[in-house]
Amino acid sequence: MERLKTFEEYLRQPLEERLPYYEKNQRVYHVMVSQQFSYDFLMKLFDTADLVKHITHKPNGAEFLASVLQHKRAMLYFTQPSTRTFLSFLTACQTVGMNTGEVRDPSLSSELKGESQEDGLRTFSSYFDAIIMRDPKPGFCEYVAYCLDQTSRSVPIINGGSGKDQHPTQALLDVYTLYRSFQEQGGISGKTCCFVGDLLRGRAVRSVIYLLARYWKVEMYMVAPDTLQIAPDLEHFLQEQEIKVHKTDNLEEVLPHVDSLYMTRVQDEYDLSQESALLDYSKFHLTIENVQRMQKHAIIMHPLPRRHEIDPSIDSDPRAMYWRQLRNGMYIRAALLLYLFNMEHRLAEY
Ligand code: CP
Repeated sequence: MERLKTFEEYLRQPLEERLPYYEKNQRVYHVMVSQQFSYDFLMKLFDTADLVKHITHKPNGAEFLASVLQHKRAMLYFTQPSTRTFLSFLTACQTVGMNTGEVRDPSLSSELKGESQEDGLRTFSSYFDAIIMRDPKPGFCEYVAYCLDQTSRSVPIINGGSGKDQHPTQALLDVYTLYRSFQEQGGISGKTCCFVGDLLRGRAVRSVIYLLARYWKVEMYMVAPDTLQIAPDLEHFLQEQEIKVHKTDNLEEVLPHVDSLYMTRVQDEYDLSQESALLDYSKFHLTIENVQRMQKHAIIMHPLPRRHEIDPSIDSDPRAMYWRQLRNGMYIRAALLLYLFNMEHRLAEY
């Protein structure tokens, strides 16, 4: 697709008009936002992730998987703190055989000598076949994709979290976890999903909500202090999708009605005036007592890291899925890498 003159001109277009720029040959090329994933695409990725998991546990399976993308290299450029996304992508790359390079501390790169991030990223694209990145600046991943697409060596950019914007691969692992959890119960459609905590600034919440909207008759509870309720644009989107949304600050009251509970922490790294410190957030914490109010089949999720939102004594409850989310993240990210290099079909050879 032909590029526009300037990034500002490109950015002025609504997201729906920018989405084709993230594609090549009618396939997703840059992974930027959850809205790129249709229901059919999700199902395809989930099937691949299931296969990766299955093959990993078979004799010689790990060796086979590690041969599939051994000719590809990925750069992990994480300039905002991360434990899970970084390690999950690193292990996903290892699973499918990709070699990796990394920059986590820009003060150890030539950025310290005054090199721009743009030049640094163009340098990575000379050595690597994909760049997986996290940056605190909203929209920066999209800017990098735009810049690289102007060069003779563009590589796929995968957004591992961009400011308060989006965290699309977290959403993939969250919905994959819901898909696996509700496989025996008619799937995700028709389920009641509850989000708790900082719903205003949580990029994971925003991203997973866009994906859940792909499912039929999902209902949502938004449990948050008034000042941290979902953003108006997200609420408007849900209205347009005719998704039933209940906003409340009473967690205890909603617990018996939900099929999934998605807990989040206060995103106070985005707090300019320390206003979150004044909030009594304890009403939005899950205790062992209030877990008793939940249905037997309901699941508890958290993108992690957690602070006090979930009492650690809940970890051994079979409904606690937040540790399983981590393993699912590795499988779905491996599936995504196989898709991006158009190599998922190779799994049939095993
Ligand atoms: N869930 C998540 O993004 O965790 P990290 O910040 O540790 O990567």
